[in-house]
Amino acid sequence: MIVVLSDRPDRSQSLVDAVRAVAECRVVGTDETWARIGPFRGVIADITLSRPEAKRCLRLLASRPARTRAPLICLTRGNEQSAFTEARNLGATLCLSALAEPRMVVGSLVREVWPEKSVADLVVTREAERAGTLMTRLFESAQTGPIDLPSVERGIAPVLDAIHEGGLSRWLDEVWAHDDVTFQHCLLVSGVVAAFAQNLGLSATDKQLMTRAALVHDVGKSRIPLAVLNKPGRLDDDERAVMQTHAPIGHEILMASGGCDPITLAVTRHHHEMLDGSGYPDKLCADAIGDPVRLLTICDIYAALIERRPYKVPMSSRDALSILSSMQGKLEGGLVQAFGRAVQTVP
Ligand SMILES: [Fe+2]
Ligand SMILES: [Fe+2]
Repeated sequence: MIVVLSDRPDRSQSLVDAVRAVAECRVVGTDETWARIGPFRGVIADITLSRPEAKRCLRLLASRPARTRAPLICLTRGNEQSAFTEARNLGATLCLSALAEPRMVVGSLVREVWPEKSVADLVVTREAERAGTLMTRLFESAQTGPIDLPSVERGIAPVLDAIHEGGLSRWLDEVWAHDDVTFQHCLLVSGVVAAFAQNLGLSATDKQLMTRAALVHDVGKSRIPLAVLNKPGRLDDDERAVMQTHAPIGHEILMASGGCDPITLAVTRHHHEMLDGSGYPDKLCADAIGDPVRLLTICDIYAALIERRPYKVPMSSRDALSILSSMQGKLEGGLVQAFGRAVQTVP
């Protein structure tokens, strides 16, 4: 956690927003006594240092036991040199002008607190955490009833922002670190879809639409017995039949939740359909399968192939792409080629 010490929270808001992009952030005033605030990794003081209460608060901070000390960045106003000297005397490890861009302040914070990481690393970690927490809640509620579809909206921006900020490879590294199979898969597919949509130059609205569909496309898996869902290795015929029900079940969950857009509904029911009619659950053929479903199906198969499980050797992106290319007649060839270009930076 990062603490922003502010005597004018309204003035500090853009700074707080910038900090929240990389870390959990708590805003406190100069009446803070630091006694019960809990562990934190760094402090940014956006206060008027000449005020007695500001000095008192920073002296209290400096008097904490050495093991709990954290870097203190002071933003100073007015006469820079004397303000810098005053801030140093009050324990600042770094002084910056209060006029500095919040992003630049956060860059300095990251160098002080996490010297081994970049801002982009932290943004991706944070966004994956946000989207992951949301998806976990969503799947829990889907086990027994409808889901809160508006809450899915809060998962879209984290995925798109992380892909935009850090690229697909970094997102995959982050998501691969999570053990939960379904959770990992949803976030993998969402990141891959977001990267593909970005590479195709889709509009912001279409990128959001596709990312939303990717987040919930396997929501039906929440009602598949764990013994089948988490079985290491191949499923037998009966287990496969059970597993395949996740597509229509997911569609039912979304219908029961109300207000779901038609693209998300179609993607959820049909993302295992193949152009030659060999897919499930409705054995649709090419004409009946729309572009959003075709796009998601490619991303879904790719994500499943490169997933990391404790019991299997991970497949490289190149091998996964050659499997997609071998599925002629089942997947749209032109789209598979475009997909290959979109994920070419993934090792
Ligand atoms: Fe699926
Ligand atoms: Fe899937």
